[in-house]
Amino acid sequence: APIAAPDLSQCEEATVQKTGLPTMGVACCPPVSTTIIDFKPPSVRKIRYRPAAHLVDSRYLKKFEEALRLMRELDKDDPRSFMQQANVHCAYCNDAYPQTLFPSQPIQVHNSWLFFPFHRFYLYFFERILGKLINDPDFAIPYWNWDSPSGMSMPEIYVGSNSPLYDSKRDLSHLPPSLINLNGGKDNDLSRERQIECNLNLMYREMVRTKIPSLFFGKAYRAGSTADPGAGSVENGSHIAVHIWVGDKEEPYNEDMGNFYSAGRDPIFYAHHANVDRMWNIWKTLPGKKRRDIDDSDWLDSAFLFYDENKNLVRVKVRDCLDSRALGYDYQSVDIPWLGSKA
Ligand code: C2O
Repeated sequence: APIAAPDLSQCEEATVQKTGLPTMGVACCPPVSTTIIDFKPPSVRKIRYRPAAHLVDSRYLKKFEEALRLMRELDKDDPRSFMQQANVHCAYCNDAYPQTLFPSQPIQVHNSWLFFPFHRFYLYFFERILGKLINDPDFAIPYWNWDSPSGMSMPEIYVGSNSPLYDSKRDLSHLPPSLINLNGGKDNDLSRERQIECNLNLMYREMVRTKIPSLFFGKAYRAGSTADPGAGSVENGSHIAVHIWVGDKEEPYNEDMGNFYSAGRDPIFYAHHANVDRMWNIWKTLPGKKRRDIDDSDWLDSAFLFYDENKNLVRVKVRDCLDSRALGYDYQSVDIPWLGSKA
């Protein structure tokens, strides 16, 4: 059976573990609402194109900053506020929700086939909320184009310390022009040319060489089963590397990006995950007969709850997010330099 949507009234304190440190409890449960609406795909009049963060113009940046500033200013109990949005990730990723009907098993949206669809919906609602706050239903969040040489450092728009896009808990030695290491996220002494080449090779392996749905999306995860059956290629590779590379090594749990519970507190998280989400779209367009979404009703009927831009609690199912254009958005198209980076 599919993983069912959590019962918010059963949400418990989240737990953060790290070897060598005591388990830390974090309160990150959302407000409870008893009315739940079933998600209906929006009527799309125009596709919103999420721009590459390093290519946005000042007009776009002003809007984005304004939206994020307003989100940060919302009441802390408003489910659309920035902290509540960050807490969505904490609750779904740090064992705050018991599985409905299997209370001894917590819900975990990483390390399995839930990874891509959960984060797609998470960003979808985050984006709808920002659009609502600035009265622009066509607003689209940026993506961090880390798979392309021109995007392999932290996007400049996130690094100004007076910006609502800024977060102080980051590795300061990784500010631009420092180049990301997509292979593990740790420092090394490769030259810039060699680092770029390694990053492109890694993308080639995760995307082009990974042809089978279970290896791309992650392993099956069904109602009653234990968490973490196995992550897909992108989740396990470039995705984790970016988290590690951005998070502050001086913070006890590598906050913010370096730990699930705090990752959503850094605005760059949403740009990072937009690029992860873009990889899902791209993967399906690469040659190969098996490059399709998973055809298993336990995946398709897996459900989550999110608050939408009107503070309504919405139950979504994986089957409703397979086509990003049906959700009203797609990605600004840029060169994909790793397509031929066979190593
Ligand atoms: Cu939910 Cu990148 O982690």
